Amino acid sequence: MEKTGQFWGGRFKEGMDELMWNFSRGRKADRFLFPYDIKATLVHVKALAKAGILSEQEQRKIESGLKKILDLYNREPDYEEEDIHSFVQESLREIVGVLADKVHTARSRNDLVACDSILAIRDILITLKDKIRGLQRAILEKAEELSDVIIPSYTHLQSAQVVYLSHYLLSFISGFQRVVDFIDWTVENQYCPLTACAGSGTSIGLDAESMARELGLKAPYLNSMDAIANRDYFLDALYIMERVALLLSRMAEDWIIYSSSEFGFLNLPEGFCTGSSIMPHKKNPDALELIRARAGKVIGAKQQFSLLLKALPMTYNRDLQEDKEIFFSTLDELIPMIDVMKEIVRGMGVKQERINEVLENDYLYATDLMEELIKRGVDRASAHKAVGRLIRLSEERGMRLRDVDRTEREKILGIDLSDEEYRAIFSPKRSVDSKRSYNGTAKERVLAQIEYWTSVLS
Ligand code: ARG
Repeated sequence: MEKTGQFWGGRFKEGMDELMWNFSRGRKADRFLFPYDIKATLVHVKALAKAGILSEQEQRKIESGLKKILDLYNREPDYEEEDIHSFVQESLREIVGVLADKVHTARSRNDLVACDSILAIRDILITLKDKIRGLQRAILEKAEELSDVIIPSYTHLQSAQVVYLSHYLLSFISGFQRVVDFIDWTVENQYCPLTACAGSGTSIGLDAESMARELGLKAPYLNSMDAIANRDYFLDALYIMERVALLLSRMAEDWIIYSSSEFGFLNLPEGFCTGSSIMPHKKNPDALELIRARAGKVIGAKQQFSLLLKALPMTYNRDLQEDKEIFFSTLDELIPMIDVMKEIVRGMGVKQERINEVLENDYLYATDLMEELIKRGVDRASAHKAVGRLIRLSEERGMRLRDVDRTEREKILGIDLSDEEYRAIFSPKRSVDSKRSYNGTAKERVLAQIEYWTSVLS
């Protein structure tokens, strides 16, 4: 079968098998490249005119044809041709006739598809950054709204020390900020593959530097073969998505735990929970569970992509056509995860009564007691041991740490703390506000962080 818009075919006696045609055509993801294929082609056409391959009049004709195509079809058109490049070519031929065939001079689909992909990924990363910013803002607003709430922190999922809930929430904002920084770097540091052609470059003199500049890319490629073989931009974008998924999964896991009746200090918005068909009391955190599950798919995609690239011979191989499929399906998975998480953040609340009970756990203040001893001149090792012994004593006696009496305390701690001084150590507020170390959880530090993020995110 002979197909329209095909860039090749002269050396073939028979046309392509129908089965092969359907098997090999650019699939769904190709369509996302459409506007970028036009954009890259416009720049290529300008370079061809500058090199004298196209007359000024031809250039204008082709340019207006390309712009018409962009207007004519939706952003993601359906087409019959072999791939998006053939579709653009064929559509152009319908408008400007055989002149369209000149456009593909000094160009291969190999440099074109690489260029299209880079341009698409940059735009997508900018959109992803906006999404992350939105989530960061939602977290910041929640941190401000609940700025007086104190919760336990955990290491090994065992109660550690108390922190402001807002301090805990802000920790995710700084995690996402590292992803944003990496997005910025990735967007800024892309090289233009145009004129690399099939990997060897071309004998036709095109101004690669201007082309790179016009596309807003850092510079032309550093090596024409690398320009064609390289798919690191996909890999980097997938790694960025993996990082987002990892953060989302950790938030999800924490909040599944914190909203369970045993922890019970977080209240999830009903609109993002489900009930049980048998147990009438249930309010299940399904949205968070699905985020946790889908994070696995997003994380797996980078691995899948590495498997696609692994041991591929230089330079272009048709395997690379699958790059877009992995990338765009992963993106489709991730974006709703961010949207849902943002709404959960906005809708979540706390159960203050339950929190008050949880904060009664004396061990949350054991470190404060130890630091109190250190501040009074006891060395760290002795202070640690002494508090440990006091804990053992209180456990053996079946009493709370705060209830050990003064003489007993003095015997073990080697320091006489009045009842008032001793009792004060078990105050959640005093405990958090004493953590004035750099960006620690003391109120003033948390407020400074909120102020910082407010200026960064506004
Ligand atoms: N559809 C192809 C892709 O996505 C475009 C490049 C095809 N090049 C080739 N020599 N067959 O990678």
